[in-house]
Amino acid sequence: MTACRLCDASLHPVVDFGPMPVANGFLTPDRYAEEPRFPLDVAVCPACHMVQLVHLVDETTMFNDDYAFFSSTSKGMSRHFEAFAAQVRADWLGDDPFVVELGCNDGIMLRHFGGGRHLGIEPSGNVADAARQIGLDVKSSFFTADLADAIRAERGPADAILGANVVCHIPYLHSVLDGVKRLLGPEGVFIFEDPYIGDILEKTSYDQIYDEHVYYFSLLSVQALAARHGLEVVDVARQPVHGGELRYTLAHAGAHAIRPAVDALRTEEKARGLDRIETYDGFAEAVAASRAELRAVIAEIRARGERVVGYGATSKSTTVLNYCGLGPDDIEYISDITPTKIGRYSPGAHIPIRAHSTFVDDPPAYALLFAWNHAREIMAKEAAWMAGGGRFITYVPRVSVS
Ligand code: SAH
Ligand code: TMP
Ligand code: ZN
Repeated sequence: MTACRLCDASLHPVVDFGPMPVANGFLTPDRYAEEPRFPLDVAVCPACHMVQLVHLVDETTMFNDDYAFFSSTSKGMSRHFEAFAAQVRADWLGDDPFVVELGCNDGIMLRHFGGGRHLGIEPSGNVADAARQIGLDVKSSFFTADLADAIRAERGPADAILGANVVCHIPYLHSVLDGVKRLLGPEGVFIFEDPYIGDILEKTSYDQIYDEHVYYFSLLSVQALAARHGLEVVDVARQPVHGGELRYTLAHAGAHAIRPAVDALRTEEKARGLDRIETYDGFAEAVAASRAELRAVIAEIRARGERVVGYGATSKSTTVLNYCGLGPDDIEYISDITPTKIGRYSPGAHIPIRAHSTFVDDPPAYALLFAWNHAREIMAKEAAWMAGGGRFITYVPRVSVS
């Protein structure tokens, strides 16, 4: 059996999704022949409780000059990151702070620190350029301990290191945490947020599992990791974005008082069994049941001759479509507002991605909501379509038509 990437204990298998394409690998038909496939299987470590992918896709296959995900596409996320930046400033920063952000993408959060000393670390060239265009200082690299040493030598210690939806992408977390330990000033904080395994279990949101997400954190697993690097979790807070995330604040051990939320959530996670493998076995059963239900709902609609389209060509949709075996005969096209995705085809399932105007001009009876994490924003936008009889199919937290 494979060993835990972080502590070497033998992993316990949870779900094997079978061969999958790159989740964000939206492509044109001339590239179908060379489209790569990778085993997607997730496991849990019985010792440090870290849920993780067993097989990995090379990081440059996913993060390169053709990265499809532009953070600022969502207005809701723009507001979220404005509030995130304000909270960091109010809670942890004094005058003239040096703020480093890992995976700053197009600058959706770092822009709020743009007036002061700041540095973004962003390996995907196209999104890094978008951040530079709004005046941000961005280094096109993967964050590692060596890079942290170089940044400190050149610019001094960081008061805050931030990361949203990026730490869980990085396989070599020991190097990242070593780098954080060495780059942070004595009172500095490392604040990051990522999808929460507690939410994934609760909502059977298995579509969070795809190649980019190497780890599915809990407070328990992050505490175990931090302790190996002389760091500790001093605060934790649930976030309603991306289907449910946790924001962790780490500091040098002993540097700051630990806030009460940390012990409270630790107790809750133990009560919910996040430290027991049986909990994850139950999740595996729920995932298989969700697939069977979604396939049945779509087959029934298609048998009546009604049209179904997808809404939001998310990375998450790649797991759902390929795991459930849905293709262009089931889903006519996927509506999306991202210019780089429109005109391409979905990874593996090869469903065309169309502009939102297609959806508006020729409305279908049903839309399978892949961007369910933006449901509120989307339902508001599509109120007229729904009033005219249009219906959303969702699969989180359970398969339903509304
Ligand atoms: N923070 C943004 C972007 C998340 S997408 C948001 O929350 O919307 C993840 C980003 O992390 C991508 O832009 C990717 O290029 C970047 N990334 C991946 N590996 C990284 C690494 N090792 N160091 C820094 N950034 C990385
Ligand atoms: P995300 O779930 O990873 O944030 O990706 C959301 C995807 O959904 C992205 O490709 C943009 C798309 N989208 C729409 O097409 N319409 C919308 O109104 C929103 C909010 C997102
Ligand atoms: Zn482990």
